[in-house]
Amino acid sequence: MSAPTPLIAGNWKMNGTAESLAQASAVAAAAPAAGVRVALCPPATLLASMSRALAGGQVMIGAQDCHPEPSGAFTGDISAEMLADAGASLVILGHSERRAGHGEDDAAVASKVQAALRAGLEPIICVGETRQEREAGQALAVVTGQVRGSLPAALAGKAFTVAYEPVWAIGTGLTPTLEDIVEVHQAIRATLRDMFGEGGGAPAILYGGSVKPGNAAEILALPEVGGALVGGASLKAEDFLAIVAGSPKA
Ligand code: PGA
Repeated sequence: MSAPTPLIAGNWKMNGTAESLAQASAVAAAAPAAGVRVALCPPATLLASMSRALAGGQVMIGAQDCHPEPSGAFTGDISAEMLADAGASLVILGHSERRAGHGEDDAAVASKVQAALRAGLEPIICVGETRQEREAGQALAVVTGQVRGSLPAALAGKAFTVAYEPVWAIGTGLTPTLEDIVEVHQAIRATLRDMFGEGGGAPAILYGGSVKPGNAAEILALPEVGGALVGGASLKAEDFLAIVAGSPKA
């Protein structure tokens, strides 16, 4: 099976107001037309305006979370259908900031993945170990356990992406060694093959955690690294485009 087209996705987290759309437009103006998929995942408040601003271009729009139900009495929550209606085609699920800050366990993430599929959104499912888990030699067990628990069988044959984001590397400027990144990505690939079979799709496995213009190219060139999930460095178009430029093209 041929390698998936690399995906470079920017996760704006809880950052951005209407004036930030200029950064998104700058990304859209310079993003490559082929060979790499480029996505921006703004806060939900900007989904509709960003999708209007970038309409007809190459840059895809993603959300950062969804509720499992399509509608109902869930004050403050947003359904996958609503995200699609606002212009999203992707959704980040199970980010460690949601797992840690909102008590999302693997089962909760899996139910959100089901919701994304129901709404026609491509899920980007995040996994990653804490510093304590890595120091205790548990990184591979934790990450592969999260993959098994967070990815429902319904993903077979569907478009989806997994993002390996070590919790201790997010927003810290720290990154694993290149060998450690490859080791975890290979373990995720083996787990996906075991779950979905050789023919069950070959999703891109992204690396995330302190990806910057200065380290992107060497990380993106590693075997089994199919792109990046970029937080802080995605807020400035210049930095994000430099990371996109470091991606090997499909
Ligand atoms: P960072 O965040 O690039 O700021 O480390 C990555 C992420 O949380 O997706």
